[in-house]
Amino acid sequence: MTSSSPGRHTRTTSRRTRSASTVAASGVLAAAGVLAFSPTAPAAPSASSTVQAAGTLGAAAAQSGRYFGTAVAEHYGEADYEGTLNREFSSVVAENAMKWDATEPNRNQFNFSGGDRLVNYAQQRGKYIRGHALVWHAQQPGWVQGLTGDNLRQAMRNHISKVAGHYAGKIDSWDVVNEAFEWDGSRRQSNLQKQLGDGWIEDAFRTAKTADPKAKLCYNDYGTDAINAKSDGIYRMVKDFRARGVPIDCVGFQSHLSQNENLSTYRQNLQRFADLGVHVQITELDVGGSGAAQANVYRQVAQACLAVARCNGITVWGVTDKYSWRARETPLLFNGNYQKKEAYGAVLAALNSAAG
Ligand code: G3I
Repeated sequence: MTSSSPGRHTRTTSRRTRSASTVAASGVLAAAGVLAFSPTAPAAPSASSTVQAAGTLGAAAAQSGRYFGTAVAEHYGEADYEGTLNREFSSVVAENAMKWDATEPNRNQFNFSGGDRLVNYAQQRGKYIRGHALVWHAQQPGWVQGLTGDNLRQAMRNHISKVAGHYAGKIDSWDVVNEAFEWDGSRRQSNLQKQLGDGWIEDAFRTAKTADPKAKLCYNDYGTDAINAKSDGIYRMVKDFRARGVPIDCVGFQSHLSQNENLSTYRQNLQRFADLGVHVQITELDVGGSGAAQANVYRQVAQACLAVARCNGITVWGVTDKYSWRARETPLLFNGNYQKKEAYGAVLAALNSAAG
């Protein structure tokens, strides 16, 4: 299903150079009412030509107005890493460089070097950029962890304002709040929850909206790959936010999966969030395992996103198995030698099958 969400990928970034084929493809997609742009989209087929299946993940996703992205770590100088990143992916997110511990190591002293490098890299290549993550209980710098009450509230607000403000206009989607719910659907009892009470998530979203009015503002979590107690808890929050006009535009489903994953309610779960009026994004996809079983799970995730019009796209959590946070499970689409795995072919075929 081609995405029908208006303004899905209206560029929020400054003008970029585009190849002729990209401009042509954008014209085709724009004519179809899909405001999508991908730097790797194939040349628009002439009236007489048959539509050629796209040969890269980003180009295949662009055919249905979506992106296909990856988390990026600091391996720019490695030719195979950079070559695969450039060729295959139309969206990027910093695996660690834009988190609180990296961007504000000391109170009100900011270090944007890692994030700036990725943003500049992506902008020069016309790639979408996801921001990850403004507020999270993990990877907080040490000075945050002892703060209490309004002191913590002011520190959180300042962090969001300064980081989202620094990248304003360049980020397509921000993970504003990450992993704030427990498996039973209750709030995680983090320092943020304990010190600030239930209102801290709404506060974070309102602060982010002020700092960057253009970015899609996302709530991001794991273990939400089905209709379950955790996704129910998040669903209740998003429904309440939408009813009260709290600025939330998107829900991120991390989707850290195994090859035996039961995805029987995955699509319905995405759809029920989309029916609340938010976009849905697969934000950190990786699937522990190998061969056909792993490929089948990747295929199901891609097909589920393609079946939900408001699913903007998919991000895998890394380029190559060898740098994955769960490397021993070989969870990604390229092996340690940057060779395409069976799962790659399954995803590419699924994306091409949905070409508009
Ligand atoms: O930068 C330091 C380096 O200076 C030091 O020498 C080295 C050894 O201690 O550690 C380096 O920091 C590591 C950091 O990754 C950057 O490589 C941290 O120890 C390590 O804990 C951190 O792991 C990251 C993890 O989040 C932290 O929770 C992973 O790379 C990253 O893939 C993972 O990503 C998270 C998402 O942000 C949220 N969803 C879950 C996902 C997987 O945990």
